[in-house]
Amino acid sequence: MTHYADLIERRFGDGGPSGDGVADNEFIRRVIARKTVRRYGDTVPDEALLDLLVAAALSTSAKSDFQQASILRVSDPAKRTAIGALFPAMPWIGVSPVFFIFLGDARRLQRVGELRGKPVRNGTLEGFFNASVDAALAMQTMILCAESAGLGVCPISVIRNEIDKVATILNLPDLVFPVAGLCLGYPQGEGHVSLRLPRRATTHRDSYDDGALSEAIDDYDRRRDARHAIPKDQQRQNKEFGEAAFYGWSEDKARQAAKAEGAAFPPYLRAHGFTFD
Ligand SMILES: Cc1cc2nc3c(=O)[nH]c(=O)nc-3n(C[C@H](O)[C@H](O)[C@H](O)COP(=O)(O)O)c2cc1C
Repeated sequence: MTHYADLIERRFGDGGPSGDGVADNEFIRRVIARKTVRRYGDTVPDEALLDLLVAAALSTSAKSDFQQASILRVSDPAKRTAIGALFPAMPWIGVSPVFFIFLGDARRLQRVGELRGKPVRNGTLEGFFNASVDAALAMQTMILCAESAGLGVCPISVIRNEIDKVATILNLPDLVFPVAGLCLGYPQGEGHVSLRLPRRATTHRDSYDDGALSEAIDDYDRRRDARHAIPKDQQRQNKEFGEAAFYGWSEDKARQAAKAEGAAFPPYLRAHGFTFD
């Protein structure tokens, strides 16, 4: 008896393990079937539910118990509009019923050091990385809890591309930076489960081996294209790279990654307390 085979097939379609013999677990089923949602109904989730989701997010594990995540909810309509206007290609940012921002907060620990008279310098790479991981874990915990309550969400890291403007709107002090925003609301429309890379490309045992990557990616491209082909008019940077006869996931992601994003983020961080030493 398998409770997961269909869901795993839909998520991976890679012929890999499908949870045979594992007891049914609704939470795991929901996680495997989850999908990012970018269109929401107008209903605003109850404040009590949002408070609960924040509590759940802040219950996540935290590196060294330093607790370096902070959550900022943007509810002021003028601020929502101002942030949304920075990203016209992603209209859901300005209009989702709820918008949180998950902050890596290296400032609080440094302030704790000051309060206790200890020489804490938290603008190091370690400080940045720990705060980033804490914020990401808190965000993902909120994502899974929100989805289990029937909500749909979309993380928003594009806000870092306009970090100076976003930080000004939100009055972010030194050593505090957004890891990502999170749009949240009741889903409108079905969406689809996004096929993941075959697990033979993303999992390893005992030692790392990506010797079969090329074949795995070709296979993934073909299977993903058969389910959700990328329309011709969505090919990126055709001027630079030309129109591709076959435009799969790997062509799309290679083109996307070749155009570096987030150039403003490192100088912003260096100007706001991070030395990365
Ligand atoms: C850290 C992070 C940042 C993201 N930033 C954005 C974003 O700025 N805009 C957006 O529309 N989606 C964003 N996404 C959503 C991803 O595009 C989405 O998770 C991915 O396409 C896989 O789809 P799925 O979550 O439905 O499986 C982000 C996801 C993560 C984890």
